[in-house]
Amino acid sequence: MKSVASAPAKIILFGEHFVVHGTKAILAAIDKRVTVTSSFTENKTIKVNSQLGTFEVPISSSYVEVENEFRPFVYLINQCMQMKMFRDVFYRNVNGLEITIDSDIPIGVGLGSSSACCVAAAASISELFYTRTTLFGNPQQTYLAINAEKTIFPDTSGADCTVCTYGGMIEYPSIEKIDNTFDLNLLIANSMIPHNTKNSVEKVNKFKKNNEDRFSQLCDLENGLINEAITAMKNNNTTTFGLKMSENQKYLEEIQVSNDTLRDMISSLKEISLGTKITGAGDGGCIIALIKDENMDKVPELLGKDKECFSAKLDTKGVVWKIEK
Ligand code: PMV
Repeated sequence: MKSVASAPAKIILFGEHFVVHGTKAILAAIDKRVTVTSSFTENKTIKVNSQLGTFEVPISSSYVEVENEFRPFVYLINQCMQMKMFRDVFYRNVNGLEITIDSDIPIGVGLGSSSACCVAAAASISELFYTRTTLFGNPQQTYLAINAEKTIFPDTSGADCTVCTYGGMIEYPSIEKIDNTFDLNLLIANSMIPHNTKNSVEKVNKFKKNNEDRFSQLCDLENGLINEAITAMKNNNTTTFGLKMSENQKYLEEIQVSNDTLRDMISSLKEISLGTKITGAGDGGCIIALIKDENMDKVPELLGKDKECFSAKLDTKGVVWKIEK
């Protein structure tokens, strides 16, 4: 028996970093996915196969004992083993587990690869242990996934795992779905500079400590801007929506998560974009731009050959799972 779950990548349209400090954010799930397949084995080990390599530890291992990138999986297995319901029914029968991760989400560029992986793994592993777990629904799955992500990134706002679970476009933390009727036509461009979310979040923490009043002002401005962006969407006003994206970028510049490469990319799209900003932690990773249809073909030349770009479509499914016999 195999338990297969997949979850989408995400973009942050508004509110990255500020959301860690309690502001709202707007996120959208996009059409790139990670699939996690898990099955029981006879090997008395936990084995994880991924693009990062293969890793194997005794089934009795605790997540705190293992390398960072594999902690979420071991944490989820520990959790499932500990839940009385699972233990009573299955524990004595479980020798080992094998987990395989297949992903088309680029790693470490702000598209939520690690959150999507935690969401897919939470669904796949809990469903493997007890097929009715997923009946607890999205809140329970998000909770498990966020806690798994916290084993590698304790400060996470939880916004990424939430949108990867629910799919579509949401306001966070209310998890209200936003029905965007206008065609967003969002372009994602990868600076090809890998980033480290934890380091960027720590940098912003330092900025906040040294500039308390201004940071608090920026949080208020961000909340206001998000309300305006939601109104712009409701009114089908793409121009205002784009302007709000560029305004958000100014706040991200001010908290120092941008750099020359990202600024150059943003400026190179200036003539054809209604709004452009970093998406995710910044310091590298991706930018998103709201581009009119007729200008899409000008993008590769303006950005240069060394950057990757693609157009993002909204994912409405969120996490999905199935058991294969
Ligand atoms: O770059 P990513 O995909 O790891 O996104 C990070 C988003 C932050 O707001 C910076 C952190 C968070 O937990 O919300």
